[in-house]
Amino acid sequence: MTIEAKLSERTKYMQANALREILKVVAQENIISLAGGNPAPESFPLELIRQLSSDALDKFGAGALQYDKTEGFEPLREALFDYLPEQGVVNVNRQTLSIFSGSQSILDIVGKVLVSPGDKIAIEAPSYVGAISAFNPYQPTYVSVATDDDGVIPEALEAVLKQHTIKFVYLLPTFQNPTGRTLPLERRKQVAALLENYDVLLLEDDPYNALRYSGETLPPIQQYAPDHVIYSGTFSKILAPGLRIGFCVAPAALARWLVIAKQGSDLHTQSFGQAIAALYLTGGYLRTHLPYIINLYRQRRDAMLATLEAHMPNGFQWVRPEGGMFLWMTGPIGLDAESLYQECIKRGVAFVPGKYCYFDAGVGLETMRLNFTMTAPEVSTKAVQTIATVAEQTIVKA
Ligand SMILES: Cc1ncc(COP(=O)(O)O)c(C=O)c1O
Repeated sequence: MTIEAKLSERTKYMQANALREILKVVAQENIISLAGGNPAPESFPLELIRQLSSDALDKFGAGALQYDKTEGFEPLREALFDYLPEQGVVNVNRQTLSIFSGSQSILDIVGKVLVSPGDKIAIEAPSYVGAISAFNPYQPTYVSVATDDDGVIPEALEAVLKQHTIKFVYLLPTFQNPTGRTLPLERRKQVAALLENYDVLLLEDDPYNALRYSGETLPPIQQYAPDHVIYSGTFSKILAPGLRIGFCVAPAALARWLVIAKQGSDLHTQSFGQAIAALYLTGGYLRTHLPYIINLYRQRRDAMLATLEAHMPNGFQWVRPEGGMFLWMTGPIGLDAESLYQECIKRGVAFVPGKYCYFDAGVGLETMRLNFTMTAPEVSTKAVQTIATVAEQTIVKA
């Protein structure tokens, strides 16, 4: 049987996520990887999760293991009614908040509910490739919005909104993946005003906001335009990604459709993980554990920045992220980061060539994404020194 002939039109738009392919290669070989985007395993509170698993069974009994409502496990929703407003998210209530199987599934469900073939999504370039994988099967076209060191440029977004009928805008305003950039307060307000003026929706993907190592906490864009924003968050970076718990606050009429779409997709997110997440919040454990994660990652960020400063040759620039998990580096024009990557792999070091984070081919060839959370400082220092040595040779050769 030729399976290709059996595939739906939609499936033909699916592509293997290029980063996942890189990660597979990297995992097979014995190399230091700055390519991944995983939280550090030592950031997971194993003993606490063991205790909360037992507490969940004591407290919720069979309810923690039963089929449940699609909207989410009620004790977790109630805990989020308190937690999310502390993070600056507004309009959090039973009509607007629902729980999803990781925030990745929110990207898919939003695509499913909003996008017909040919609809336009405005997206900052570069962006999170996992989002493009999630949206692609719904066959959108993408309109790129220009960015600078402060993230998306409001004037560029306005030009796009004037010229195109945009179904929704997709942004990562805080510690963006892949760049680590953060949109300043003034721009958040400008973007919110544009959403209202042009009556367009924003999908605000916000997995990293709690991981701030320096600078001032900023409110989500959702706070300034709650009727136009689908706010998406996750427990993956503040507890453990294996639990697959994401949460979404959307305008009530849209939240209803997201829940209906989710019903057909997976009925509900796993109850037991939601029970653990609920106890994590209500027991005050996030408050005690988060500083540990932040301290671990801050040291790793600072170590990588110091090594870059000390060793990278002239012509390379990098973002100094105030939080999150990634650092974005740009080499001199003409640099081929993919060849640099291939040479580094031979010497046992991996990173992500930045071109994989753009949906347009031929863009971002000189860029790279480095993860700083997975590797201990002494190891990442060795890795960055290798990148610097190879970069020096590459530039001299060029
Ligand atoms: C920007 C962004 N959005 C969404 C996700 C998906 O996260 P999860 O499904 O674990 O919540 C990730 C994962 O790294 C991410 O970087």
